[in-house]
Amino acid sequence: MEFDIAVLPGDGIGPEVITQGVKVLEAVGARFGHCFRTSYAYVGGVAIDKYGTPLPENTVALAKKSSAVLFGAVGGPKWDDARTPVRPEQGILGLRKSLGLFANLRPVKVYQCLANASPLKPQLLNGVDMVVVRELTGGLYYAKPKRQWKTVQGRRGVDTMRYTEREVTQILRMGFEMARRRRGKLTSVDKANVLETSRLWREIATEIGREYPDVLLEHMLVDSCAMQLIVAPGRFDVIVTENTFGDILSDEAGVLSASLGMMPSASLGASLRRRGNTRGLYEPIHGTAPDIVGQGKANPLGTILSVALMLRYSLELPEESLVVERSVEKALVDGCRTADIASAGESVLTTTEMGDTIAKLVLHT
Ligand code: IPM
Ligand code: MG
Repeated sequence: MEFDIAVLPGDGIGPEVITQGVKVLEAVGARFGHCFRTSYAYVGGVAIDKYGTPLPENTVALAKKSSAVLFGAVGGPKWDDARTPVRPEQGILGLRKSLGLFANLRPVKVYQCLANASPLKPQLLNGVDMVVVRELTGGLYYAKPKRQWKTVQGRRGVDTMRYTEREVTQILRMGFEMARRRRGKLTSVDKANVLETSRLWREIATEIGREYPDVLLEHMLVDSCAMQLIVAPGRFDVIVTENTFGDILSDEAGVLSASLGMMPSASLGASLRRRGNTRGLYEPIHGTAPDIVGQGKANPLGTILSVALMLRYSLELPEESLVVERSVEKALVDGCRTADIASAGESVLTTTEMGDTIAKLVLHT
């Protein structure tokens, strides 16, 4: 089969890890006889430098006409002046909005062979296998008013937390559908003891829950959830939550698996039940890591596992997706490590060597 893939490497270590992701995608193509036509475009700081905007129109146009988008990372010290109105992060925020990608899936899996590299005690990690479903196009990130201004009593700033019934319903349904396909447990995370948007969220979750008698729904306050992720991470199956809570909790959940460098994500627009092209954007969650740029230290597994998610959700190639995931697992069991997941005394692969290893495993196992 043939697919058009938009590739947006972005800034920092983005281009380094994306090169490895594309390498693995090409290995999948060679093994299964698919043609993945890749087209590249600028986003983030590199786009500001070249076009004066973090999200040029031709980048949006390319993303819209592709089956899926493979995204690196955006941002960096060069563009970090808080006073400038043009910021690299607007590249990813604008893409999410213009592609209508309302759901961000961040699966967290702990590989037994890496349990010693996790910041938590290995015995706490037994059975950790969850997915955070984060609302991505609403809440504090986008709602107006959103501004800073001066008054005679000093400066003020405002952001607005707003949710519509439609936004809450579509993300909760995505959560219930995921839970139904997994172990049947959904934790809906909110701050209903304080926030009106959360009280709305909780009401709607309870109503939709009646349509999913096979899913066990629990409500949890976000502060309590932050604590439970550390003391009992194995209790979670699917977590569904609003944009800002999900941003914070998914970084916390991400380090359970030893390193953020391992963590993939999928941002989806259409229901998982709809056939055909699911518009989706796939990115590692680690960000641009300016401290290690160009040193060959970046872990490409977050990107490679994002490619696996892309094969599953947007391209509907489940077998190909499994081959990528199994190749990553095999490499880890064989002792392949990048610097971020190596324990003392273990030898360390460069970004490129890790990518080559996975591509070879995809071709030959
Ligand atoms: C993420 C990132 C982004 C977010 C930034 C880069 C705008 O932290 O994808 O989690 O806050 O959504
Ligand atoms: Mg984040």
